[in-house]
Amino acid sequence: MELNRWRQDFPQLKDNDLIYLDSAASALKPQTVIDTTMNYYRDLSVNIHRGIYDEAYEATRLFEATREAVASFIHAEVDEIIFTRGATAAMNLVALSFGMTNIQKDDEIIVSELEHHSSVLPWQKVATLKQAKLVYIPLDENGRITVENFKKVLTNRTKIVALTYISNVMGYVTPIEAIIQLAHEKKACVIVDAAQAAPHLKIDVKRLDVDFLAIAGHKMLGPTGVGVLYGKKALLDAMEPLELGGEMNEEVNLYHAIWKDAPYKFESGTMPIASVIGLKAAIEYLEKADLVSVENHVKKLRNYAFQQMKKIEGIKIYNPDADSSIIAFNITGVHPHDAASFFAEHRVALRAGHHCAQLIIKWLGIEACLRASFYLYNTYADCDQLVQTTKAAVKFFRSVGFEG
Ligand SMILES: Cc1ncc(COP(=O)(O)O)c(C=O)c1O
Repeated sequence: MELNRWRQDFPQLKDNDLIYLDSAASALKPQTVIDTTMNYYRDLSVNIHRGIYDEAYEATRLFEATREAVASFIHAEVDEIIFTRGATAAMNLVALSFGMTNIQKDDEIIVSELEHHSSVLPWQKVATLKQAKLVYIPLDENGRITVENFKKVLTNRTKIVALTYISNVMGYVTPIEAIIQLAHEKKACVIVDAAQAAPHLKIDVKRLDVDFLAIAGHKMLGPTGVGVLYGKKALLDAMEPLELGGEMNEEVNLYHAIWKDAPYKFESGTMPIASVIGLKAAIEYLEKADLVSVENHVKKLRNYAFQQMKKIEGIKIYNPDADSSIIAFNITGVHPHDAASFFAEHRVALRAGHHCAQLIIKWLGIEACLRASFYLYNTYADCDQLVQTTKAAVKFFRSVGFEG
């Protein structure tokens, strides 16, 4: 029997034939996250920062304890952590608040074709509204962002650099440390999309000296509906909130109001309390599992699967040298949605489509692709199943007349 010390913690995988290879979309939840989230509903269920009864104090304490846990997880200060609906909301907040205030006509905003839509579309909007210029880093021949190519587009007019830490299609790790240093030499601000990185890499925002960083709770074993925006305190203090409403203000007068300090001015209305509380359990789980061990495991699985997949005739793999957990591929001549249906019939859950990253899909010269992504609960048996099902799919589609 193959040993996987984490798998048993995921109730969904018990007595289930599901081969889950879609963790880059959303990770499954360990029992402790499910329990912590449910306990809030069972024992508390009340709002935070408002009530002066025991349950309200306890819910507030648990909510704020997650802020401390996130801060320590990425080496930030507690008041640099803003809870959002997800990574998308975090990046929109930076662009539409910080970006709209600080970008002027003819300024340059550097992005890449590897971005998830949530990391590029807000900047497209800012660039259009402010008559600024969106500049793309030329990718190298494998579709990677390199420091050399970044230098080619960095200028004295660069004000913003918005980049993914790990690509959700190619699984490449961006050399953000060097990029941040170079950007800061030009006094540009760097926003890092860490939605795919936070589940896999130890992040130290202080060491990176990153200005803003976005995280998605649901990809790192946490509940859906919660993400995090990290921002340097001085930048957050100077930023205007986008959403105005309850609990984000110190004082409201007839014609003006005074906001609370960051992070609270950015958290208006009732927050996803249960999800935030559950996120702490996810962080504790990952810290105990140790991200280095998790990533070692994931890389071994990815390599094991890749070594077999590359021998299969009739498939094309787009990221043979990925750094992280992803295999992006197609069965030649078969639309990935048709292929994914075949995988689904065999209980292999993959993602098919453009992965909300149409720019890299276009760069690859394709319409869409299949994506298998691995995480800590996966096993070598899952990889075998992926390989066997891919072989069976190639055989099946050829037998019904698809050109291989
Ligand atoms: C690289 C990347 N950035 C951002 C996002 C968006 O995250 P969220 O679903 O939390 O808004 C995703 C999700 O697929 C992603 O893979």
